[in-house]
Amino acid sequence: MKICVVGSGYVGLVTGACLADFGMTVTGVDKDADKIAALERGEIPIYEPGLEEIVEKNVRAGRLSFTTELAPAIREARAVFIAVGTPPLPDGRADLSFVRQVAEAIGDNLNDYKVVITKSTVPVGTGQMVERVVRERSGGSQEFAVVSNPEFLREGSALEDFYRPDRVVIGARTQRAVDVMLEIYAPLKAAGVPFVIANVESSEMIKYASNGFLATKISFINEVAELCEAVGADVEVVARGMGLDNRIGPKFLHPGPGFGGSCFPKDTRAVAQIAEEHGLRFAIIDAVLDANERVKQRMVPKIAGAFDGLEGRTVAVLGLAFKGDTDDMRESPAIPIVEGLVAAGARVRAFDPAAIEQARPLLPEAVTYCYDAYDAARGADGVVIATEWNQFRALELERLRQLLTRPLIVDLRNLYEPERVAAAGFHYVSVGRSQATPAVGGERA
Ligand code: UDX
Repeated sequence: MKICVVGSGYVGLVTGACLADFGMTVTGVDKDADKIAALERGEIPIYEPGLEEIVEKNVRAGRLSFTTELAPAIREARAVFIAVGTPPLPDGRADLSFVRQVAEAIGDNLNDYKVVITKSTVPVGTGQMVERVVRERSGGSQEFAVVSNPEFLREGSALEDFYRPDRVVIGARTQRAVDVMLEIYAPLKAAGVPFVIANVESSEMIKYASNGFLATKISFINEVAELCEAVGADVEVVARGMGLDNRIGPKFLHPGPGFGGSCFPKDTRAVAQIAEEHGLRFAIIDAVLDANERVKQRMVPKIAGAFDGLEGRTVAVLGLAFKGDTDDMRESPAIPIVEGLVAAGARVRAFDPAAIEQARPLLPEAVTYCYDAYDAARGADGVVIATEWNQFRALELERLRQLLTRPLIVDLRNLYEPERVAAAGFHYVSVGRSQATPAVGGERA
């Protein structure tokens, strides 16, 4: 089957490459000529483990190609995936102008039956809008179907999520459209992945409700962490004790400096907005948004406490991306942290394994960028771990200590066992674990 994927950003690129790997013939379209030229040279514009290999493999096999020419790619395809950006407008609603433009182009080029699939996270009701636009532009000349097929890809493990999803959600109005989708996802069906077949609105809602719930889980544990600090409990033990209850589950119970990224902040705001547009109030989502702002704001005072003031201090910040294994800086909690440190008079020496170039334009000019964690620590008065990169779990503590002027680690991701870091001579401050560990022979927090 010939497939056209419009939008070669994160979602479009992963979807296109994986579908080509399923044996489909895929054309990836993007209006950014530089991006397409780079992709044709085999250069992947985003950091995603494994993606480069499968793009290369499928380009070589002739199943994956890239173009800026939307019209011919639509005309050739049986299924057109819309995976363009839906950036938030100032009022929090998703900007659907790119989706609308693609729908117009599909209407203009509807030469036979096509399935039009919204892959981008779109507000409930977008499927209807796409249907209307395609119908108007095509003059009702051909049959087509609009399908909602939300993605649940996590950055950093997107390929794994694509090949081994917990479920595939398909929202469609006709069996004919469902059948096309089942053909596309045949390898997943064969692998026993559950399929949820719904109407378009339910499918769109599943995406928002899932992300809203996951964001709630993170904010919940972040609030529990704050409470743990106050009552003298250890949030890691509490999270384990909670997570062993099957009804709760252990995932997404890691406290930290707040959630960021391209999905959770945008989607939770959109849920609140959708509720408002329907005259409702989604009170829990409002609280999650509020809690996430507060947890981000708590971090700089926490660091200031550990450093005993920030004026004139040098802080080594490890990790800038919104989470590990990505170069994505969108809504990264590291941004307000670094801004706050600089505003309080600290010098920041920052390192991130992938996101430095993306971070540069977003962070204060005064930040010094370093080539690894040890370079960042050189001459600093302490380390702040802001992102859960795996490589920060295995720092050579002795080497780190020798580079720092003071043996201090503020671990905002709880990557370390307090006892181990204390044994290495560090003063260690983490999240939701009230017993700040004193340095050997050192003072208490
Ligand atoms: C998310 C969803 O997981 C995915 O299904 C959806 O399609 C897109 O949004 P992503 O944004 O890539 O994926 O990252 P995810 O791993 O979910 O983490 C989101 C944010 O929450 C990160 O800032 C992360 O550090 C934070 N987080 C996650 C926590 O603070 N604690 C956790 O327990 C889990």
